[in-house]
Amino acid sequence: MVKPRVFSGIQPSGELHLGNFYGAIQNWVSMQDRFDCVYCIVDYHAVTSRTGRESDKFQDPAHESISAMSVQMAGDLIACGIDPQRSILFCQSDVPEHTELAWIFSCVASHGDLARMTQFKEKASRNDYVSVGLFTYPVLQAADILLYRAAKVPVGADQIQHLELARRIGRRFNTLVGEDYFPDVEAELTDGNRIMSLADPSQKMSKSLGDKHYVGLMEEPEAIWGKFRAAVTDSGQEVGEQMSAGVANLFELLTLTGTPQKAIHVFMAQHAAGNIRYGDLKKSVHENIIRVLSPIRDRRSKMSDDTISDILAEGAVRASEIAQETMAVVRDHVGVRPPRIS
Ligand code: TYM
Repeated sequence: MVKPRVFSGIQPSGELHLGNFYGAIQNWVSMQDRFDCVYCIVDYHAVTSRTGRESDKFQDPAHESISAMSVQMAGDLIACGIDPQRSILFCQSDVPEHTELAWIFSCVASHGDLARMTQFKEKASRNDYVSVGLFTYPVLQAADILLYRAAKVPVGADQIQHLELARRIGRRFNTLVGEDYFPDVEAELTDGNRIMSLADPSQKMSKSLGDKHYVGLMEEPEAIWGKFRAAVTDSGQEVGEQMSAGVANLFELLTLTGTPQKAIHVFMAQHAAGNIRYGDLKKSVHENIIRVLSPIRDRRSKMSDDTISDILAEGAVRASEIAQETMAVVRDHVGVRPPRIS
């Protein structure tokens, strides 16, 4: 039986954090049984975050190269349970059809739709130099997904708008060529699809906000405790008052880490009665997180960069086969002949 195809991507922005893990990667892992999964380290997307200031350089001595970070990210994903035997795991820049299809799609996407993207507006407001690449970022994302004719995309809630755009681009392409070639793209969300920063629970957990705003999967347990200890809660709840964002985030992590319902109920009852000790809640979340992370850290420590690079090379061969097939059909529809040289 042919399994439906799934595609998802992640930027090689350094190590994985709890937001990535509970927001997306858990679904990446669990979907491997039922779907034909294609997972991509989107290194060309990461170029947009290196050109946000007038003074930026592609290669900054303070940053590792995008390629080194891609290998690191692939290792983290494998340690989390992505199985390169069952799923395709590869790097975007190894399959040039991604950028090729992105160009065709940039002739299909509407400027007005792109201008409405909230992530673009947010990032553009933070940067003093706004590149065209930052603007067309979601077009490349649509190309990533549709190159593999994938319908289901496991992501966190912050990507929903980008996926709606991918759906619109696919549909418009289909209308232009008079054939239902690309499937409708839909998001597959986890229960933890929006994990918030511990230091500022009004913002999603993210590396780009700075060190105290995320918890890396490979961080030392003491460093992780430091971040939980400092997590923003509130200065005591009045009975019946709505739970603050920081406390709700801690409860969410408690649930996601598989804490027994009984223990959660005890904290919930204390919270409702207004006598919860946030230090105890934080300790419990921390203990549970370390329990989840420790086998992942063990697996990661046994992997070498060479082994990971070989896995990515194999993944690129498998991804290329599908990508070339799609590009041949797209070129034909658009009226551009196959390359004169191969
Ligand atoms: P990226 O690299 O920022 O994040 C990777 C995945 O992690 C999810 N995520 C979160 N989920 C819950 N809470 C959080 N705090 C949190 N932070 C991150 C993201 O939703 C994402 O699923 N544009 C994408 C990368 C991309 C892509 C694609 C995704 C490029 N092409 C094609 C899917 C399909 C991004 O920047 O994700």
